[in-house]
Amino acid sequence: MKILVTGGLGFIGSHTAVELQNEGFEVVLVDNLSNSSIDVLDGIEAITHKRPIFEEFDLREKQKVESFFQKHGDIAGVIHFAASKAVGESVEKPLLYYENNIGVLVYMLQELKKKQSANFIFSSSCTVYGQADQMPITETAPVKPAESPYGNTKQVGEEIIKDSCKANSQLKAIALRYFNPVGAHPSGKIGELPIGVPQNLVPFITQTGIGLREQLSVFGDDYPTEDGTCIRDYIHVVDLAKAHVAALQRLLKNKNDGNYEVFNLGTGKGSSVLEVIHSFERVSGQKLNYKIVDRRPGDITQAYADTKKANEVLGWKAESTLDDAMKSAWEWEKIVRS
Ligand SMILES: NC(=O)c1ccc[n+]([C@@H]2O[C@H](COP(=O)([O-])OP(=O)(O)OC[C@H]3O[C@@H](n4cnc5c(N)ncnc54)[C@H](O)[C@@H]3O)[C@@H](O)[C@H]2O)c1
Repeated sequence: MKILVTGGLGFIGSHTAVELQNEGFEVVLVDNLSNSSIDVLDGIEAITHKRPIFEEFDLREKQKVESFFQKHGDIAGVIHFAASKAVGESVEKPLLYYENNIGVLVYMLQELKKKQSANFIFSSSCTVYGQADQMPITETAPVKPAESPYGNTKQVGEEIIKDSCKANSQLKAIALRYFNPVGAHPSGKIGELPIGVPQNLVPFITQTGIGLREQLSVFGDDYPTEDGTCIRDYIHVVDLAKAHVAALQRLLKNKNDGNYEVFNLGTGKGSSVLEVIHSFERVSGQKLNYKIVDRRPGDITQAYADTKKANEVLGWKAESTLDDAMKSAWEWEKIVRS
């Protein structure tokens, strides 16, 4: 079965391409390399001994999207990762984010509407919950007003898919709300490749560990948590990738309950910033240079997932520990810089 993975050379897309190929799917990747490198294709091939089909184009070009679907009429499912994801940049360039994250989504759904049956997996985010009132966060927790244009594209994206599923019964979709994806493939062949200053904690830690950044700033130690630093749910990217295969199988086997579903993808365990730093220190055997600074506006205190629905309904569970994830991230950082 042929599966389209948009943004397939990116961080999560490349790991998902590996898991799809491991399960015997034929994978077609589309990417414009705006936030990834063509070398990732070699990494996927080195792990799976199979080179996925790759087409390089910008999905904002509607005609190219149309021609792509004409050429690959036998696509059985789409996993849509392609998007812009830097929260800060989205505040400065909201229209770029709406064009790339919403415009492209609409083009994809327009193409899928032409098919007799279509299966669609969407990359959503736990940012839709904002600071949830209760921990752990279940899928029924209310969606809170978005803090950024990026966050808004995930909320609006979900609404667009839900409306499309309501209007077109041949379309089945699952939105996956990721908590905090981290780590790298244990082979050391693929991982996260942030361009410029990393937006996320773990690549900032590993870049500081390797000496690329002088010091990590920990934003606030006066939050109402045990050690005063913010708590998130860090999920190993390989576990996350496997969840996409489970979600896709659910749609392909018609096991879905209604044609639009939402799942949280996390470990169910919250870790504080200091716990993540200590995990890095444990697995790397070195001290990290960090300092506590003022809180950063917009940061929420804590977010971790209730994973019961994904565990029971998708039959999927995150298996890696935080130390596993930090170890793979550190190994990857060392390989990238060597
Ligand atoms: N990484 C996270 O922390 C996180 C958390 C929650 C949700 N998500 C979502 O998951 C998805 C994948 O995230 P990621 O971390 O792998 O990001 P990434 O930037 O590594 O991957 C996205 C890929 O899409 C490609 N792309 C972007 N716009 C494109 C376009 N117009 N045409 C073709 N290709 C295009 C980029 O070149 C990149 O390779 C995104 O939708 C992101 O918003 C990520």
